[in-house]
Amino acid sequence: MGMFKKALLAGAVLLMAAGSTLAADVKIGFIVKQPEEPWFQDEWKFADVAAKEKGFTLVKIGAEDGEKVQSAIDNLGAQGAQGFIICTPDVKLGPGIVAKAAANDLKVMTVDDRLVNADGSPIEDVPHMGISATKIGEAVGQTLVDEIKKRGWDMKDVGAIRVSYDQLPTAVDRVDGALSVLKAAGFPEANIFDAPQAKTDTEAALNAATVVLNKNAAIKHWVAVGLNDEAVLGAVRASETVGIPADSMIGVGIGGADSAINEFKKPTPTGFFGTVIISPKRHGYETALNMYEWVANEKEPEKLILTAGQLALRDNYEAVRKDLGIE
Ligand code: GLA
Repeated sequence: MGMFKKALLAGAVLLMAAGSTLAADVKIGFIVKQPEEPWFQDEWKFADVAAKEKGFTLVKIGAEDGEKVQSAIDNLGAQGAQGFIICTPDVKLGPGIVAKAAANDLKVMTVDDRLVNADGSPIEDVPHMGISATKIGEAVGQTLVDEIKKRGWDMKDVGAIRVSYDQLPTAVDRVDGALSVLKAAGFPEANIFDAPQAKTDTEAALNAATVVLNKNAAIKHWVAVGLNDEAVLGAVRASETVGIPADSMIGVGIGGADSAINEFKKPTPTGFFGTVIISPKRHGYETALNMYEWVANEKEPEKLILTAGQLALRDNYEAVRKDLGIE
């Protein structure tokens, strides 16, 4: 090779190096609010796949409260990370998270729960991937309406447990989406009961739903909605505890991770009738990849990506999972 050609090549290599960061130098954090929840385990699993594929380092951190979020971000900064993805324990931490990220020179993208400003409006500057909450909630509601009709229940005799976590906008959109379909089908508003959960896990939902069931012991049949499978499972467990037969409860969740799948695997059907399966693969793999492209190639992610869901019941969940590439 001639001198001239060699010099050209060297120049090209230098140019490439200036425009992009080497994968091995990229470190990305993935912070989640509830590391023990199967949904978040799956998100991490798929984010790991992206890290392996591209050759960057993924740092997984569980942060259950604001203080842990703050130290997680500082920690990432100190480790020389360039960005992170977060599902925050509290969306009101939004402005604080944005400021902390900037102070540590870290790019930030959110997943699942969108950050809000002090006035409750979404922080639109931060790229976000979430589920299309209202639409998915409506799919839950439609499933309930269809099943109530199939069982020949009179809506007057049915109670609806709304396991609620109203400080989280996506939770409100999900449950209200479901209830709007029920109401449009003639479900009496007076038969809808709020069961506010203190935390978004099964135990908190069980406690909240038990109160509702005990107060309304005269109601024969029940349906349950909530922001995720854990919430609806809590309501189903509560119905079992107070002695409501499994075929008098229709719970439809959102998620489709192990908590729901284990329920479908039980030999006899429980009150957990179905779930709208959402994609931890998209939320984990794609957000990690988006952040990588942002850090390594200065390709900024879209500001808002909303993902879809697909209903699964006991007899078809395997096929739906296969379809979504998440078996
Ligand atoms: C919220 C819920 C999770 C899961 C995700 C999906 O963060 O708490 O259980 O449903 O949304 O985006």
